[in-house]
Amino acid sequence: MHPSTFASDILAGLRASPKQLSSKWFYDERGNKLFQAIMAMPEYYLTDCEKEIFQDAGPALLAATGGRPFDLIELGAGDGSKTQYLIEHFLAAGADFVYRPIDISAHAIELLGTLIRHRWPFLPFQPIEGDYFSALNRLGSGQSGRLRLVLFPGGNIGNFTPEEAVEFLRHLRTFLRPGDLLLTGFDLKKDPAIILAAYNDATGHTAAFNLNLLARINRELSADFDLDNWRHWETYDPLSGAARSYLVAQGPQTVHIADLEEVFSFAPYEAIAVEISQKYSRQEIQAMSVAAGYTLLEHLEDARGWFTDSLWRAV
Ligand code: AVJ
Repeated sequence: MHPSTFASDILAGLRASPKQLSSKWFYDERGNKLFQAIMAMPEYYLTDCEKEIFQDAGPALLAATGGRPFDLIELGAGDGSKTQYLIEHFLAAGADFVYRPIDISAHAIELLGTLIRHRWPFLPFQPIEGDYFSALNRLGSGQSGRLRLVLFPGGNIGNFTPEEAVEFLRHLRTFLRPGDLLLTGFDLKKDPAIILAAYNDATGHTAAFNLNLLARINRELSADFDLDNWRHWETYDPLSGAARSYLVAQGPQTVHIADLEEVFSFAPYEAIAVEISQKYSRQEIQAMSVAAGYTLLEHLEDARGWFTDSLWRAV
């Protein structure tokens, strides 16, 4: 990503009213470590749910491909840990496929490549480095005509509002041909207490994760946020399904961001919106599939019905 994007995005967000910072900037090196800690904590049920789903998902996905050769394309592959269950199953079943992970981090691609070559030296592996859409662009449209199975796991779709999510999925559709497959991870609406606890853990992992965004601004843009003066605040609205994170100023403060040549004032208890983690019902997911140009084939869910990897076919 272009280096100025972080700076210009932070500047625009702090000039906006109400102030907001995008959760996509959480993931610097320290943020990645803090997110690992979140995924390991018992309250953050999403990790185990999706692992359970991926362990069993292989047969349903192969059935949907109808035995045709395919490209397995993964958006934001990261360490590919869940995908390994699918690859294992696909290889055992003798499927003809190429693994094409997309990731913005060259470092992540390199680690994944090492792992893949070590574990499956003969697996056709063609990673693409870049953001989702420029990478999909480079896949080209027609030349191979191979079926595409696109994975968008992890509940990352939740960081979009429902409107943004439909827009994203529609845009993704333009890179697919009719019949191509898309598997997207959605966190489902459930007991509000369970959802709130996942984003408001007593141990403070989520607070540290969110506060790291201010620390990152300090580090990368020479700012002077005093982290002791900010609190993590979480809400979950069971009606809309939005879990939202805020950073709240504990008293009036003035923050100088040297690299932006700007000073920002915060009123007592002024909040910065930093993240949405949207939850959906099955009906809402069904409606979204239609609105975005797909038909829903099936929901692959964990035993508790807390999370779904929803399998769609491009119309
Ligand atoms: C990586 C977007 C799935 O929203 O559940 C976890 C990020 N934020 N705890 C989520 C996150 C706070 C996570 N996703």
